[in-house]
Amino acid sequence: MNAPNKSGWKPVAPVSDAGAFGGPPTSTGNRALMLEEPLIFDIGTAGTTGVDLPQADPAEPNRLGAFARKAPINLPGLSEPETVRHYTRLSRQNYAIDLGLFPLGSCTMKHNPRLNEKVARMPGFADLHPLAPATTTQGALAVIYELAEWLKTLTGMPAVAMSPKAGAHGELCGVLAIRAALTARGDARRVILCPESAHGTNPATAAFAGYEVEDIPANADGRVDFEALKARLGPDVAAVMITNPNTCGLFERDFKRIADAVHEAGALVYCDGANFNAIVGRVRPGDLGVDAMHINLHKTFSTPHGGGGPGSGPVVFSEALAPFAPLPFVEKLADGTFHLVEEETAGEHHAQSFGRMTAFHGQMGMFTRALTYILSHGADGLRQVAEDAVLNANYVLRSLEDVLDAPFADAGPCMHEALFSDSGFGGGLSTLDLAKGLIDEGFHPMTVYFPLVVHGAMLVEPTETESKASLDQFIAALRSVAERARAGDESLKQAPYYAPRRRLDETAAARKPVLAWNDPNLT
Ligand SMILES: Cc1ncc(COP(=O)(O)O)c(C=O)c1O
Repeated sequence: MNAPNKSGWKPVAPVSDAGAFGGPPTSTGNRALMLEEPLIFDIGTAGTTGVDLPQADPAEPNRLGAFARKAPINLPGLSEPETVRHYTRLSRQNYAIDLGLFPLGSCTMKHNPRLNEKVARMPGFADLHPLAPATTTQGALAVIYELAEWLKTLTGMPAVAMSPKAGAHGELCGVLAIRAALTARGDARRVILCPESAHGTNPATAAFAGYEVEDIPANADGRVDFEALKARLGPDVAAVMITNPNTCGLFERDFKRIADAVHEAGALVYCDGANFNAIVGRVRPGDLGVDAMHINLHKTFSTPHGGGGPGSGPVVFSEALAPFAPLPFVEKLADGTFHLVEEETAGEHHAQSFGRMTAFHGQMGMFTRALTYILSHGADGLRQVAEDAVLNANYVLRSLEDVLDAPFADAGPCMHEALFSDSGFGGGLSTLDLAKGLIDEGFHPMTVYFPLVVHGAMLVEPTETESKASLDQFIAALRSVAERARAGDESLKQAPYYAPRRRLDETAAARKPVLAWNDPNLT
């Protein structure tokens, strides 16, 4: 057998910077509890497994026929404790919301209540198969329906597509509905306008859907320049995509005026609702003239984030776009039962649906968690979520504006995130240096260099789930690094000192990413 050349755990070469902690390099590469961990492929041993299976009887006929494996697949063999330890050790090299405040702006890294997890793990939800007949999945369909009703009520919009699996996927869903509506009226508009403060996914989505993207400048207040937008509207503009509250952490006060002007010009309004947590229960986007808006359940409604998924990005639609929304959706029948409206059962009203976003009806695990969160807060509680998110961000903003430049702070309170710039840093220090210094303080850095409209931007979103004590701890840490940055403290250029890895070569990581492990025995 072509056994992989593995011999169990191999000591990792001591990291060259171990001495940076003041101690000698260690033979394992570990720095006490700062553990090193090789790739799983480097620790697996051929033939090792977590389960004892009986030896196959060589006399047994080969029942797999042509599908029988011809060569070993060289997967790493590990026992159960080795596997558990491998992943646990890896997890300790990362930061998590369960370790502390996670200030990534625009990402809403809030606590994921354990009640959500308990409900999502109920076998009736967790063990469901998407192809199970509707007669056996009434409870699950009721969850999807009830969550959909809440989202429609909270946004003041008449229809919702539950299937998109992330915010960006929701954007694509909204833009495809816009395109279907324009196509249905024989209007081949080519351009989508995005403010220059837009989240990168907005122009990316528009381009992916085949549109030309044009920028709209921000005004001195950090909001969309209404006059510039109005001047650009014309018969070639299909839609505008605006984030509200925007990526500078500000409410777009002109939104209704913008929406009216866009509609008058025959175009449609897409709202990026990723920041809905700042206004939920306070503002209904439907009242502002929105035609389509995604909601990131993994932000506003506290379902977990994780490596780009599993997320959920339902999209709410106006009357104008509802007929073009994707299938399937859950309908409540007169007898109180639920069923999935699919292509075969869609009536006249949904004949114009642009199609499907996904094979099935969406992320059941996210739906159960989001509905649990909504029901455990109630309408009043959700309003308080928004108020506390805004209060916490303003507390951070006002506590740090004497040491960090806050470009739009004079214009009034922020919404759910506080924006700072690198203005005032000494010794050629940058936002990146400050962010790396924050790692040494035991915090994940805030979002950096976004939004692009602010030089060296630092976007801090504390979320409503942080207590005053944890905000104060974070503020003290950030204050101390900010003071060092202002004083031009050269040592920040080498930070982090106390992380499993020091500075990475970010250019090489972006230009020459190594995304797959190659078995040296096979290459
Ligand atoms: C403003 C904004 N829009 C869109 C997105 C994309 O959402 P998702 O990551 O769920 O695809 C994000 C994500 O951070 C965001 O902050």
